[in-house]
Amino acid sequence: MKNAPDRVRAAILLLAVIAGVSASCARREAAPAPPATETAAALRLKETTVRNVTDHAITYRIYPAGKPEAVETREIGPGALDRFRTAGTLEIEFTTGKKDVLYSLDPGSPYSFRYDEGTTIDLFLGSHGRADAVDLAPWVPTPQPVVDRMLELAEVGAKDVLYDIGCGDGRIVITAARRYGTRGVGIDIDPAMIEESERKAAAAGVERQVRFVAMDATKADISEATVVSLYLLPESNALMRPLLEAQLRPKSRVVCHNYSIPGWESKEVRTETVEDENGEDHYIYLYIR
Ligand SMILES: C[S@@+](CC[C@H](N)C(=O)[O-])C[C@H]1O[C@@H](n2cnc3c(N)ncnc32)[C@H](O)[C@@H]1O
Repeated sequence: MKNAPDRVRAAILLLAVIAGVSASCARREAAPAPPATETAAALRLKETTVRNVTDHAITYRIYPAGKPEAVETREIGPGALDRFRTAGTLEIEFTTGKKDVLYSLDPGSPYSFRYDEGTTIDLFLGSHGRADAVDLAPWVPTPQPVVDRMLELAEVGAKDVLYDIGCGDGRIVITAARRYGTRGVGIDIDPAMIEESERKAAAAGVERQVRFVAMDATKADISEATVVSLYLLPESNALMRPLLEAQLRPKSRVVCHNYSIPGWESKEVRTETVEDENGEDHYIYLYIR
C-alpha cells in the first residue's frame, strides 16, 4: 500500500473537475442573437436548473447574457431547485463568502450550489434537474486503471453481485463482468447514460451478465449486492450510508473512488493511491460492511 491519501486533497479532485467544466462555461461566448425572422415559438427553449445542496440560503442575480438590465434577484433555500426556460446563455452572480463571482450558464444544463473543499460555496455543474431526486454527482468517469484496481482490491469474483451506484457509462460493472464473470447492476438517474451502458455491455458481449436501471439510486433496492462501488461527491457518500447499512449483508465490500464514507472509519480496511494514464493520483477506499 502506498502512503495514506491526503483526504483533503482527495476531496478536491472531483470538485476540481466539475469546477473546471463550470469555469470553462464561464469563458464561453454568449450564443449569437437569432435572425429577426425567427419567432420565439420556433426557438427550442431549454431548461437550465440551479439547485442548492448546501444548508444555507443563497442570494443570486441572474439575467440573459448581455442583458444585465433584465436582472432578477433570487433567494434559494437549502434543497430548493430553480428552473429557467431559456434559449441562450444566462449569467449568474453571487458571492462565495470570499469573493463575488460571475458565471455563464449553458442553456439546458443543471447546476448546483455546493461547498468546495472547505466552507466556501461555489456553483458546479450537476447531473440532472429533477426536483424529485438528489443530485449525487455529475458524470465524471473513473479512469480505467482505477476501475481495474478497485475491482482487484475488492477481490470481485464470479460469485459476486456488483452494484455501481451512479454507474455513468457502466464501465465498472462491464469490466467486472468481462474480467471476472461477475453479475452486475448499474443504476443511474440519467436515461442516456443507461442507454450508453447497455450499448457498451452489448459491444463487450456481457449483456446477459449485467443490467442497467434508470432511477434515483437513493431509492434503490441493493440488498442482493455483495460488492458496491461508489464514485460520488463526499456529501453523497454520507447520504448513501444509511442505505448501505440497512440493506447490505455483513461482509459485503464497498469500494469508493476518491471520497471516503464519513462515519465508516472503523469499517475501512484499505486505502490506496493509483495513478491514471495522465499521471494524476486517485484514491481508493475499501470497506467491509
Ligand atoms: C462521478 S459519475 C460516476 C460514474 C461511474 N460510477 C464511474 O465511476 O465511472 C456519477 C454518476 O452519478 C449519477 N447520478 C447523480 N445523481 C444520481 C441519483 N440520484 N441516482 C442515480 N445516479 C445519479 C450521474 O448521472 C453520474 O453518471
